[in-house]
Amino acid sequence: MTFLPEGRVLEFESGQLPHADHGKPESLLDIAMNFGLHLEHACGGVCACTTCHIIVKQGDNNLSPMDDDEGDRLEMAPGLTLHSRLGCQCVVTGDVVVEIPNWNRNYVSEGGGSMNLGDAIPLPKK
Ligand code: FES
Repeated sequence: MTFLPEGRVLEFESGQLPHADHGKPESLLDIAMNFGLHLEHACGGVCACTTCHIIVKQGDNNLSPMDDDEGDRLEMAPGLTLHSRLGCQCVVTGDVVVEIPNWNRNYVSEGGGSMNLGDAIPLPKK
């Protein structure tokens, strides 16, 4: 799996990664989190936001088919394209190249944690 624009390549063997508890097992988000790539996922990967929106550049056929819940939610995503998917819902079954949309890029490249409060870093006490 390759993430653009950085060109970061994540290689994994199906069934060998622990479920990172972010989205469906072996979803794009789950794999990214396993490798420390913090793709945004404000709802925790339950198809209730659009912050894990990615654009598939190659390998559409190597992702699980889109179900109705994902399709309905995706309609609310900014910058929607014909190749958009929700990272927490599409399960990776082979080689794919995906791009993180512009509006979410700085956050990811800075290595920030998720806005999901479960991952938030507490503010220092005064
Ligand atoms: S993380 Fe909220 S829909 Fe994917």
